[in-house]
Amino acid sequence: MRLFVILLLLAGPAWAQSDPADFPDAPGREEAVAFCGSCHSFRIVASQGMTRVQWDESLKWMVQRHNMPQLDKDDLDPILDYLARAFPPKASGGGRPGWTNPFAPRQ
Ligand code: HEC
Repeated sequence: MRLFVILLLLAGPAWAQSDPADFPDAPGREEAVAFCGSCHSFRIVASQGMTRVQWDESLKWMVQRHNMPQLDKDDLDPILDYLARAFPPKASGGGRPGWTNPFAPRQ
């Protein structure tokens, strides 16, 4: 299954078009999908799960390694808020691959 997803990611530009409606609805979604989806499929983003601090770190890395334009704080904050809210660290224990509802109540 994982290989299948990777092959789809490699399949090309048509796949790379990301539609905000495919991702969890929360403030900042349109901005995040438009910006992060401009270079790669937003699915590459949605497949990760991190805390806000970790998202921040990985975006710094993206700037250094992948020529992502540095965003002003005003632009970056809503995107980080969205990422942290919509794609938090995956629940530990299960190790279940695939989609988990990011808004499900947590114990
Ligand atoms: C200027 C282009 C560009 C922009 C804008 C961009 N990225 Fe990336 N990103 C890349 C490249 C290049 C890669 C690595 C190549 C690949 O895996 O497709 C990458 C890879 C990634 C990965 C995978 C890292 C891994 O460990 O496999 C994540 C997660 C990611 N980007 C998140 C984001 C997020 C979140 C944003 C928006 C805030 C964003 N990117 C915006 C160019 C960009």
